[in-house]
Amino acid sequence: MAVPAKSVVGLFVLLQVLWPGNSVTTIQWYRTAQGTDDRLTRQANISFGSDFTSDATITVNRNVTYQTVLGFGGAFTDAASYVFSKLNSTLQAQVIDMYFSEAGLQYNMARLPVGSCDFSLENYNYDNIKDDVNLTHFSINHDKENIIPFIKKVISTRQQWTNDSLNIVASPWSPPGWMKVLGSPYCPLGCTDCHLKDEYKQTWAVYFSKFVSAYKSEGINIWGVTVQNEPGACPMEYEGMHFTAETERDYIKAYLGPQLKRDHPDVNILIYDHNKNHVVEWAKTIYSDSDAAQYVWGTAVHWYSGDDFPNLNITHHLFSDRPILATEATVARDWTPKDPKWDKGEHYAHDMMGDMNNWVVGFIDWNLLLDKLGGPDHAGPDECEGVIKCGSDAMLIVDYDNQVIYPQVFYYYVGHISKFVPRGSIKISNIVIGSSLEAVAFLTPTKMVVVIVMNRGQQPVTVKLLDVVGSNKQAVKITVLAHSIQTFLY
Ligand SMILES: *[C@@H]1O[C@H](CO)[C@@H](O)[C@H](O)[C@H]1NC(C)=O
Ligand SMILES: *[C@@H]1O[C@H](CO)[C@@H](O)[C@H](O)[C@H]1NC(C)=O
Ligand SMILES: *[C@@H]1O[C@H](CO)[C@@H](O)[C@H](O)[C@H]1NC(C)=O
Ligand SMILES: *[C@@H]1O[C@H](CO)[C@@H](O)[C@H](O)[C@H]1NC(C)=O
Ligand SMILES: *[C@@H]1O[C@H](CO)[C@@H](O)[C@H](O)[C@H]1NC(C)=O
Ligand SMILES: *[C@@H]1O[C@H](CO)[C@@H](O)[C@H](O)[C@H]1NC(C)=O
Repeated sequence: MAVPAKSVVGLFVLLQVLWPGNSVTTIQWYRTAQGTDDRLTRQANISFGSDFTSDATITVNRNVTYQTVLGFGGAFTDAASYVFSKLNSTLQAQVIDMYFSEAGLQYNMARLPVGSCDFSLENYNYDNIKDDVNLTHFSINHDKENIIPFIKKVISTRQQWTNDSLNIVASPWSPPGWMKVLGSPYCPLGCTDCHLKDEYKQTWAVYFSKFVSAYKSEGINIWGVTVQNEPGACPMEYEGMHFTAETERDYIKAYLGPQLKRDHPDVNILIYDHNKNHVVEWAKTIYSDSDAAQYVWGTAVHWYSGDDFPNLNITHHLFSDRPILATEATVARDWTPKDPKWDKGEHYAHDMMGDMNNWVVGFIDWNLLLDKLGGPDHAGPDECEGVIKCGSDAMLIVDYDNQVIYPQVFYYYVGHISKFVPRGSIKISNIVIGSSLEAVAFLTPTKMVVVIVMNRGQQPVTVKLLDVVGSNKQAVKITVLAHSIQTFLY
């Protein structure tokens, strides 16, 4: 009896997929592209075939491996948490799903300011009683209003689909003013004297420890702390504190390191937490001192000085046992619902790809949510030179008066990486030849290869995706649209 031709083909395809080492492998893929409706949109499967000649090639080799991925996330600032609190329960659930659910971006990391920062409604800390050296009045009551409820909802949503922990990195902008030489949480003289009084150096280390304990008693584990947000910035009109690489090293060695090791040995300490341009000198200063380095997990970087990707590679090669984590990135506010600013998506993906092609293990965005003015924030007007306060853009802009959430283009671009690259994935070799495309590739814990490809150009590019591992070289011709990003999985 004759078997219908269609079934034979179907059976053949099925066998090819199930038979490892065979020449046909199905590729699933997702795309976001300007001028289309595609926003992280699933496309029809394509298949690898035998190798062929082409002008442009992206070569993926899973035999050549680099760093292990820790994860992706955003920040639970006071501003984001306040905006979240203004949403009704349906939209709160939607925000959490968009970022933290299996159907959303699958975020598994977050940053949490210790006390107020520029993106707070006002200045606050957890012990404002002057000279309370033993911190008997320490309390995180402030955070119980908006920040902690937001985090708790995120944790319970994630528990419905994963056991993977939410890794929270906590960062202080400033101690209470009374602990500092000039008595202000800001840096009124710039970097001059914007540091701790000697007699409160120990108190400030205990404050970190109490912060971790207090959050733990709320059921929220702090995975790591940075010693100081942007230690070289010294803002005059919002919270800041100055460290040099040497003073940060000495502070870790004498105070913060021993205190956290004693009270919370599971909490990781990250150095620096500032722009990539000076990361090499900070790493050298701190990691070269083994008495300080013994307490440190790795290095945190921000993106505001520009790409500086070679500095990450240099830092890695000097201190290869110290992971590098990107802990902050944001873009200035110039948002309207009708003008989605495509370049911001490309900026984020470019930085994430460049970082991860140079040993960075994860990427944490700044404010998870902001309002229509890119706030609320309380930094002084002089800091922002005429802009309405210091507004930024967030991936999700919220008009809470009308209960509407506006996802920005960079929500989708970041999702093309975060959603498909789970914790424990390994960065693998990807080489782009003959085109202006950017790419990064990973092998997931379930042995799926994930390749993310971006075209920032005005023209579509036809390129061969070539996987060199296996019994045959496998290749597929792909057309990458102008201003697009795509994720391939196989
Ligand atoms: C695409 O491929 C995946 C994995 O092989 C498979 O589960 C899915 O059903 C395919 N989708 C279509 C529409 O063929
Ligand atoms: C929340 O607001 C949205 C948008 O206006 C609406 O569709 C939804 O029903 C509201 N949910 C609740 C619980 O009020
Ligand atoms: C702080 O605690 C220490 C040790 O318990 C104690 O000796 C000291 O008197 C306390 N200081 C204040 C101001 O309460
Ligand atoms: C989480 O861990 C528990 C206990 O090990 C297990 O029963 C459960 O299936 C896991 N859940 C998920 C989503 O993996
Ligand atoms: C990173 O540094 C190493 C060692 O100096 C060098 O061999 C390699 O080419 C660099 N990689 C990149 C992407 O620049
Ligand atoms: C990759 O590693 C496998 C297993 O060690 C080996 O058989 C294969 O030849 C390697 N392929 C390439 C392209 O390095």
